[in-house]
Amino acid sequence: ALRRAGNIHWQHLDVDKTARARIKGQQPRCLWFTGLSGSGKSTIANLVDKRLHAMGYHTFILDGDNVRHGLNKDLGFTDEDRVENIRRVAEVAKLMADAGLIVLVSFISPFRAERRMARDLFAPGEFVEVYIDTPLAVAEERDVKGLYAKARAGQLRNFTGIDSPYEVPEAAELELDTVSDPAERLAQRVIDYLIE
Ligand code: PPS
Repeated sequence: ALRRAGNIHWQHLDVDKTARARIKGQQPRCLWFTGLSGSGKSTIANLVDKRLHAMGYHTFILDGDNVRHGLNKDLGFTDEDRVENIRRVAEVAKLMADAGLIVLVSFISPFRAERRMARDLFAPGEFVEVYIDTPLAVAEERDVKGLYAKARAGQLRNFTGIDSPYEVPEAAELELDTVSDPAERLAQRVIDYLIE
């Protein structure tokens, strides 16, 4: 359980996120990519990031594999650690949106409750959940990092989709089917959604 500090009061800041974003000609957003390991989250998030950047938007990517090298290197893959992983990254994403940025978050984020918790940190319309819909069989077949093979061989415990659950999003703003469409087209769908 988290200990809560007492005697802490919220400090009001005069420059708000809308003002911070406005000088960049943008509105703060959190694009939350969720999906199985190897589903294509990072690939698509990177393509979206590159295009937004080329269009002159100030973006940043928070990626599970990277954040777990630093801020969250004390966390593993138990349910409890995944909950804390997502709690921290959601708070960091919120700070980045408060700084006026368009932040792309790419984590498995397997639990509905934590994705809901993340969404609830943002103003209405700011949080865009993007479900990278790749069936387990397809992600396992690709097995880019060889982790599914390890999990099947019993060398890796609590692996998402094998012996740790993934709760499919029920109301994501975008559902991207990586079996029927190439990553480039799916990235463009995210851009189109944002521009609209
Ligand atoms: S989570 O569930 O949101 O906390 O996971 P995340 O921080 O996104 O980390 C997922 C990446 O960690 C590697 N990895 C594992 N994934 C799932 N289960 C287990 N047990 C595991 N162990 C290591 C894996 O490379 C994931 O990367 P992606 O990019 O998702 O394939």
